[in-house]
Amino acid sequence: MASSTASPLNLKKVVPGADDFLPLNGTDYVELYVGNAKQSAHYYKTAFGFQSMAYAGLETGVKDRASYVLQQDKIRLVLTTPLEPGGPINEHIVKHGDGVKVVALWVDDAAKAWEETTARGARSFMKPVREEDEHGYVVRSGIHTYGETVHIFVERSNYNGTFLPGYKPWKSDYNPEPVGLKFIDHMVGNVGWNEMNTWVDFYARVMGFAQLISFDDKDISTDYTALMSKVMSNGNGRIKFPINEPAEGKKKSQIEEYIDFYKGPGVQHIAVSTDNIIETVTDLRNRGVEFLRVPATYYETVLDRVGEIDEDLKPLSELGILIDRDDEGYLLQIFTKPVVDRPTMFFEIIQRKGAQSFGKGNFKALFEAIEREQESRGTL
Ligand code: FE2
Repeated sequence: MASSTASPLNLKKVVPGADDFLPLNGTDYVELYVGNAKQSAHYYKTAFGFQSMAYAGLETGVKDRASYVLQQDKIRLVLTTPLEPGGPINEHIVKHGDGVKVVALWVDDAAKAWEETTARGARSFMKPVREEDEHGYVVRSGIHTYGETVHIFVERSNYNGTFLPGYKPWKSDYNPEPVGLKFIDHMVGNVGWNEMNTWVDFYARVMGFAQLISFDDKDISTDYTALMSKVMSNGNGRIKFPINEPAEGKKKSQIEEYIDFYKGPGVQHIAVSTDNIIETVTDLRNRGVEFLRVPATYYETVLDRVGEIDEDLKPLSELGILIDRDDEGYLLQIFTKPVVDRPTMFFEIIQRKGAQSFGKGNFKALFEAIEREQESRGTL
């Protein structure tokens, strides 16, 4: 097992207050448990431009499940479905619907990551395990986080295979073009009433993260929906986890709607970065991805709020892309409708032009759009 704790990338600590006992190089992969991995893989290729990367299943000697690994630049999605009744994967799907089970984090030393976090109070999901094939070995370990979501630490410096031992390269004749998604910018967790600070403490105490920003219900409330949010980041800023909890409003909070349908806390959205949001969102729309829309009036006053931007307003307004500014610059962002049948998980597409925040200035317009959707579902 590798014992080096020095990062090969020589990352410097940039987030004040974050602790370096758990150096994280980035997100390694995100694994969803889904009802039909073959069809989900087709959707993520066709609609989102992911590329076929690796596969495990009956053909590779795995008897109880099938997993498809998809890649777009630095983003890796794993879609896993069970092949038999019963067992934890089926239970997860029956309870939650399709959703994120694993947020895997790339580390230099998976045994040490497990030891450090469990010593600080994390509940173990998987003790360090060495897995190998003819391409070398990886070490993985895991801990529980909110709800039934887990973090798996992946140490892969001694592995040069396609993905992980047990997977074979997946060659497909069907290869739609990528849409320009680069990396995961942040992943948001929804937790229950009064649970936000518990999980903020978890990321601070157990993982060494620091808090970047917080919003309370005064920042983020409309006539109806309301939520509170705090953003936790690791030391090098590559891993950012905003944590939301519901807040009281006139009617049901969108976070409560999520919790009701997901049957507990879970990953609400995965924000993926692009260098050209106009091209990326044009492609995604043409491929059938559905986005939330703000009213056209948003664009009548947005430049008064955010000032000058490099892009023409016309394509942004035609596509429904939102704009926000902070002290460091501005950002462009848009949110998909839920990508599953339950009103649970969705994606955000984000292009940062200096801004390091999360689009607080758009919350009101956005939440009014979400409320219109909730109304149509009868869940307001
Ligand atoms: Fe976000």
